[in-house]
Amino acid sequence: MRNLKTILITGGAGFIGSHVVRRFVNNYPNCKMVNLDKLTYAGNLENLTDIEKKPNYTFVKGDIVDGAFIDELFKKYSFDGVVHLAAESHVDRSITHPTEFAMTNVIGTINLLNAAKKHWAGNYDNCLFYHVSTDEVYGSLGADGLFTEETSYDPRSPYSASKASSDHFVMAYYHTYHMQVMISNCSNNYGPNHFPEKLIPLAIHNIKESKPVPVYGKGENVRDWLYVEDHAAAIDLAFHKGRVGETYNIGGHNEWKNIDLIYLLCEIMDKKLNRATGTSAKLITFVKDRAGHDLRYAIDSSKIQRELGWTPSLVFEQGLEKTVDWYLANDKWLNDVTSGEYQKYYKGQYEER
Ligand code: NAD
Ligand code: TYD
Repeated sequence: MRNLKTILITGGAGFIGSHVVRRFVNNYPNCKMVNLDKLTYAGNLENLTDIEKKPNYTFVKGDIVDGAFIDELFKKYSFDGVVHLAAESHVDRSITHPTEFAMTNVIGTINLLNAAKKHWAGNYDNCLFYHVSTDEVYGSLGADGLFTEETSYDPRSPYSASKASSDHFVMAYYHTYHMQVMISNCSNNYGPNHFPEKLIPLAIHNIKESKPVPVYGKGENVRDWLYVEDHAAAIDLAFHKGRVGETYNIGGHNEWKNIDLIYLLCEIMDKKLNRATGTSAKLITFVKDRAGHDLRYAIDSSKIQRELGWTPSLVFEQGLEKTVDWYLANDKWLNDVTSGEYQKYYKGQYEER
């Protein structure tokens, strides 16, 4: 069991990052967690109100693209661990703004690696740089097969190209400088605090508001969905017990065609909102397909299951119902992220005191 003292978690105000921060802060009270986040449109401190006053938690607002700032931060806190999640994460935005993805996902990762290299100064034994990545680096599958840790990288969107590049830099620092690193590549996450630009929260939001639910192309694309807390549990396990220099694939063994997923979601929403069966499904609207739309992702996660005993805890129907319940109970969160209100929250919390 790795026992570190001060961990930098980047992107901790985002969807997955907030679940990772909460888990690490609660599970390791003797370890200091510093959450560094730029608070882009996707970052939201409301995700962390339940743990923000814990003594082992600190929030720092900042940009990983600013190398001098990252260097200062390492000097100030003497991190011995990094869990790197900060990224531009939405494929559709990467299609319209690819350079921003290269800056944050590639240059930002290199800045963190350089700061760790400088401050750890070759004494890597009790340090770890953990990089959170995606199954999208492996490209697109046909009808059969699964991505394993040995599958060649074949990214096809600007988002996946930037993540693939960042993964390569992380492994390059392992081979070239012997920095202790680890990477995990995970399938599509869903759950509470998911920004409503991604399929599931967007559909929940639109169904709730009785707005059209846009399905790209014919809805035939397949994704492998994992509940976000199961991903956070896998990161916790690999970070503390995994083997240095390794990659771990994490996935839900839970493949769904988009259109089937949306029908299931409509069924759940009809029940929760006391609507007649079939009401929400009428909102489904087929729209122009995404450019370069990857057909299918599916993960073989047998390595992390075998080596570390990780396994997903929820079946999809349960997880989806839990997710819908969370969104219906958190109107304010949804309204704030869709109206920009959370910026005011941040000012009140940190700038005006
Ligand atoms: P997200 O978009 O919800 O959150 C990203 C966070 O990073 C936000 O809080 C944002 O403010 C912060 N950030 C962005 N640019 C920054 C910068 N320049 N400096 C500092 N902070 C910055 O993303 P997510 O879905 O939580 O994904 C987190 C990580 O997990 C990403 O690295 C992503 O590639 C990876 N991942 C995501 C999924 C998924 O299904 N969402 C699946 C596998 C891997
Ligand atoms: P998304 O949640 O953006 O994740 P990713 O592209 O990283 O897998 O999209 C999941 C799937 O849903 C993907 O095949 C694209 C599709 N999709 C839609 O059909 N409609 C939408 O409005 C969105 C956002 C996605």
